[in-house]
Amino acid sequence: MSASRSITILGSTGSIGQNTLDVVSRHRDNYRIVALTANTDVDTLEKQCLQWQPEYAVMSDLSSAQQLADKLKNGGLATQVLAGVEGLQQVSSLEQVDTVVAGIVGAAGLLPTLTAAESGKRILLANKEALVMSGQLFMDAVRNNGAELLPVDSEHNAIFQCMPHAVPGMAAPEQHGVNRILLTASGGPFRSTPLDHFGEITPEQAVSHPNWVMGQKISVDSATMMNKGLEVIEAHWLFTVPQQLIEVVIHPQSIVHSMVSYNDGSILAQLGNPDMRTPIAHCLAWPERIDSGVEPLDIFDVAKLEFEKPDFQRFPCLKLCNEAMQAGGSASVALNAANEIAVEAFLHKRIPFTAIAALIESVLSQITITDVNSLDDILAADLSARELAQSHINRSQTV
Ligand SMILES: NC(=O)c1ccc[n+]([C@@H]2O[C@H](COP(=O)([O-])OP(=O)(O)OC[C@H]3O[C@@H](n4cnc5c(N)ncnc54)[C@H](OP(=O)(O)O)[C@@H]3O)[C@@H](O)[C@H]2O)c1
Repeated sequence: MSASRSITILGSTGSIGQNTLDVVSRHRDNYRIVALTANTDVDTLEKQCLQWQPEYAVMSDLSSAQQLADKLKNGGLATQVLAGVEGLQQVSSLEQVDTVVAGIVGAAGLLPTLTAAESGKRILLANKEALVMSGQLFMDAVRNNGAELLPVDSEHNAIFQCMPHAVPGMAAPEQHGVNRILLTASGGPFRSTPLDHFGEITPEQAVSHPNWVMGQKISVDSATMMNKGLEVIEAHWLFTVPQQLIEVVIHPQSIVHSMVSYNDGSILAQLGNPDMRTPIAHCLAWPERIDSGVEPLDIFDVAKLEFEKPDFQRFPCLKLCNEAMQAGGSASVALNAANEIAVEAFLHKRIPFTAIAALIESVLSQITITDVNSLDDILAADLSARELAQSHINRSQTV
């Protein structure tokens, strides 16, 4: 490899964070872990600090940060413990860091990921919610500060690999003959569940994805296909491609991670076993290639690849994402906020699975869609959609 890289991992205790550390552990001479972060998982972050001895560890939750600081001090570790969103922003902008892995889940990732863009870092973007919320503002920050945005989401990473000319955010792919982006989706655990059983779906069933092992929120998003809708919005911003050129394709085997269709009749696809270490390794080493630890794909074993059109009645969240994108302004911010509140309530068994889409639809129909020209506009739209979604849930429980 040409140069070694110094890394901050935002969300190191999560699925993306742990997969990143797994890849890095195979190439210790080329990567240095400068900072690790989490929210409340003190035990896992403590173990990671003992193993990786980073300069900084950050916990968003203040009392967790104090607990971690006490533990590391007792263990004689020199790692400096920081707290809160300010701590996350500090480790996203450190001069000695050139690469920031954006692996926090949800809107909580927005501020530190934006800070990484404003600080001109190479960003390995997994936290799609940050881009869904801040779209234009985020891409402007990337462009204006010389940051480098590399997509970790397996579909976007596949698209990136199938567009040799692409620099995320820099050029419209139509200029290179692209006429369609085919964004694949497994269809999640309920692809063929009878619709009249949807009301009884439990959180345990929803988080058990047939092909991928992921955090709880993205697993529920995959079950509702909200994840795919958010990915359409993500693809639009990353690759400067209009919504109508992005087509969702159900592909139950999760072997083809996405495809790009060209005007000469070619369709390029990226294939591999469903394991996030492949896109993470691709982004860590880009434009070179490194071993990720992923088993090579046995195409004879796979034998069959199936593709279907999505069913919008089964997956209303897909439709809501399309509508929010068409509405523009603060609609995607409100969609994301309402979804986060709804998924949290579903995971705590406060609302049924079917209420997730219903709640988001109701928030989108009641909220006033405004222009979002600044971070303050985005945060205000996020807050008012959260409050509205929460009030719906509270009201439904007092009836
Ligand atoms: N997992 C995948 O395979 C996958 C694939 C593609 C894209 N993504 C995207 O990657 C992101 C992370 O997903 P994940 O599955 O890795 O999630 P996850 O396993 O739930 O991990 C989330 C990470 O974010 C931290 N976190 C949670 N709330 C936070 C807050 N308020 N402030 C600061 N940190 C916070 C968590 O810390 P604690 O451990 O302390 O809670 C944890 O380190 C999501 O945006 C997801 O859509 C994930």
